[in-house]
Amino acid sequence: MKVLVIGNGGREHTLCWKLLQSKQIEQVVCVPGNGGTASRENCYNLSLAVDDFENISKYASNQSISLVVVGPEVPLAKGIADYLKSQGLMVFGPSKAGAQIEASKAWAKALMQEAGIPTAKAAVFTEAKAALSYVKAQGAPIVVKADGLAAGKGVTVAVTVEQAQAAIEAIFQGQFGSAGKFVVIEECLTGQEVSVLALTDGLTIRPLLPAQDHKRIGEGDTGENTGGMGAYAPAPIASPALMERIQKEVLEKAIAALKAKGIDYRGVLYAGLMITPLGEFKVLEFNCRFGDPETQAILPLLETPLEDLILACVQQRLGEMPPITWKQGSAVTVVVASGGYPGAYELGKVITGIEKAEALGATVFHAGTKIHASQIVTDGGRVLNVTGVGENFEQALAQAYAGIECIHFEGMYYRRDIGYRVSSEE
Ligand code: AMP
Ligand code: GLY
Repeated sequence: MKVLVIGNGGREHTLCWKLLQSKQIEQVVCVPGNGGTASRENCYNLSLAVDDFENISKYASNQSISLVVVGPEVPLAKGIADYLKSQGLMVFGPSKAGAQIEASKAWAKALMQEAGIPTAKAAVFTEAKAALSYVKAQGAPIVVKADGLAAGKGVTVAVTVEQAQAAIEAIFQGQFGSAGKFVVIEECLTGQEVSVLALTDGLTIRPLLPAQDHKRIGEGDTGENTGGMGAYAPAPIASPALMERIQKEVLEKAIAALKAKGIDYRGVLYAGLMITPLGEFKVLEFNCRFGDPETQAILPLLETPLEDLILACVQQRLGEMPPITWKQGSAVTVVVASGGYPGAYELGKVITGIEKAEALGATVFHAGTKIHASQIVTDGGRVLNVTGVGENFEQALAQAYAGIECIHFEGMYYRRDIGYRVSSEE
């Protein structure tokens, strides 16, 4: 089998790495890929934009690609799955209609309310004045969200009414372009966040191990929001009993609600949840794809061949699959970023020590890297994901950080406290 993976981040490198562990898969092509996918055996990059559907489709048809796995939300929201399917290709990822669950927060909120899925109380506005009076009536803290895709930057957790006001004005003044046609204003929840990613064929839904991301740039969860600075799986906060409830009260309800709308959703359904101090949960958001960096911690623990699960989703026979099996133990991934991220940063810094880190047992998944003059250089904000796997959380954590100690590039930054909640609870 030849597989095409769409995207260029750490998530996509991890998908390629996992798929290539299978004897059934002879080649993986990553579009456009990164320095990691370019340097792996039987893995190649194809330099096309992720929304160049026509050329992706032509290439896949000409090269007898058996399966296309879509990483990021943007091409899904633009309808890549619909287009490639119409060209006779097999695609893992929801249709444009299904991707609305991530691409429109107002749409997702309405779906949750209709389906009775626990979520924060919210109201949707199409102009600033009404939004502002609502905020004044509710008071702070309060959460302001641009409706559409904003690369993780469209949410403001406002501590004061003035901050909420500034966020509303920025959205309606076009800070996020068409993603800011509506704003969703939400009650502010407190607690611990958990990411529950699940595979679905539109009928059956199978959760993967729960993971916890670290969204802020600074240690102790301070500073600006980022795409994610590290993750671990399984997240002990999501106990088996809680996971069972999340499956029934969130995931199954969401799939049933999508089906009732005529949406045949096949791919990953990712629920971002807040677990309150009393152990209750509410959905903060749904995503229509694998999480990044959660995937870099979840897939190294997966024992069931990934392509078997993906094909079962695409062919709508997930219900016939035996339960998903996992390695015992834990995985931790730590993101190494360019100095300055999530603000401005420089590119093109030479990276050394990756082989040394891997010789110690860590796995290094590339994100913002490329090959330049036979060297791996930085090419983005989040540069590498160093993953450790161990019999327990501490071993996995130690392996990830021992790996990072070997790696160097000018200005590199990483959080030294990934998983601090686990460590502090034990
Ligand atoms: P979202 O893209 O909707 O997941 O929001 C991004 C981040 O904003 C989440 O991961 C949370 O950290 C935070 N957030 C979103 N909604 C809320 C809420 N209702 N209460 C508190 N924090 C929130
Ligand atoms: N880790 C957050 C996300 O993938 O959206």
